[in-house]
Amino acid sequence: MDKEFAVNSDGLHQAVELMRRDFSKLEVLDLPVELPELGIGSTNALNSLAPSILGGAARLGEVTSFAHMDPPTPWITWAVTLWNASLNQNLLHPATAPVARQMEQRVVAWLAPFFGMNGGHMTPGSSLANLTALWAARECAGIAEVIASEGAHLSIAKAAHILGLKFRTVPIDAMGSMDAAQLPSDMSKSALVLTVGATSTGAIDPLGMTGRAAWTHVDAAWAGPLRMSKYANLLDGIELADSVAVSAHKWLFQPKESALVLFKDTEKAHAAVSFGGAYLAIPNVGVLGSHGATATALLAMLLAWGRQGVAQRVEHCMDLAHRLRDFVAADDRLVLYAEPQTGIVLWRPRDETLFDHVLQQLPVGSTSTTSIAGGKWFRHVAANPSADIDILIGNIHGALAERF
Ligand SMILES: Cc1ncc(COP(=O)(O)O)c(C=O)c1O
Repeated sequence: MDKEFAVNSDGLHQAVELMRRDFSKLEVLDLPVELPELGIGSTNALNSLAPSILGGAARLGEVTSFAHMDPPTPWITWAVTLWNASLNQNLLHPATAPVARQMEQRVVAWLAPFFGMNGGHMTPGSSLANLTALWAARECAGIAEVIASEGAHLSIAKAAHILGLKFRTVPIDAMGSMDAAQLPSDMSKSALVLTVGATSTGAIDPLGMTGRAAWTHVDAAWAGPLRMSKYANLLDGIELADSVAVSAHKWLFQPKESALVLFKDTEKAHAAVSFGGAYLAIPNVGVLGSHGATATALLAMLLAWGRQGVAQRVEHCMDLAHRLRDFVAADDRLVLYAEPQTGIVLWRPRDETLFDHVLQQLPVGSTSTTSIAGGKWFRHVAANPSADIDILIGNIHGALAERF
């Protein structure tokens, strides 16, 4: 056997040890411009890449990390992802992934009922989950256009473009939610996309509109997991949708690339997006061909934590967002964009000329920025259960103290 393909306990142990090392003084590897003729060996490659790959990465689990929808991942997912990489199963072929396919079905069966859906499959992200859902909508409901709010994720416009469908936007209200009063009265040829947790603002579109169009798709990429927590009722109405997208690599703490597209009538939707092939034992469902056993890491975490473990972490993230909201709301030098609906907090200094000054004082990775109707806002996303909000508040205080 070629030993490069066998379990190398020392090598893997070394890889784990390197994860503990502090590479904060970044030594970026001077990579050869051209593919080397001779390799340096796996252990040497690991050692020389570690400072760049490990030291050069943003640490999403740092106490100051609060900027994006990208969470840290729990260690059980690292272990299962290692197994997946070693096995390299392909869920396209039942013969190469007999059990992994069942695990994907099980994880979908665990999660779909929270959203009132009866099945679905995994995709590498919600961009593809949205595309798959709208593809099914075109095939099953004969839709000719996609309607979404101005705050909808760009993947919706992209999906409409790929599918040759017209794309129409509806204005948002002061909270960032779709202004339902501006929806067209006739949506008999439309797919209506409602967002639960808009990318910039975290706003929730009026889920009461679910079912008013030929097809309703709910893009719950970010905030879907709230449905598993004490905030479940924020998503009431989602159960009437025809399809739902949820990114597991966002608030379900999964390594990328992990998401779900879920359907109300999975048999019909899957049949509409399936192709057979002479070399296939079963039809290929959805956009992907070969795809891996991403579901096993999600299943492992759900088995380890249970629903309560997910709820506890998502609720803790919501608490962090609420603490930041309270701080901003109580300081009249600051303006809150709106009451945060799903763990995303937007604010700015009342004196907008201070925007760049304040941004420079905030820890790297703590803050992203977004613009809404021409106005610039600081954006914080409560994706990191280990974030220490007192540090962030202290930094904001410090930045303001210098100028007031
Ligand atoms: C509301 C919403 N929908 C869809 C997406 C796309 O998801 P992904 O990045 O998993 O492809 C995002 C990503 O941020 C999002 O915020």
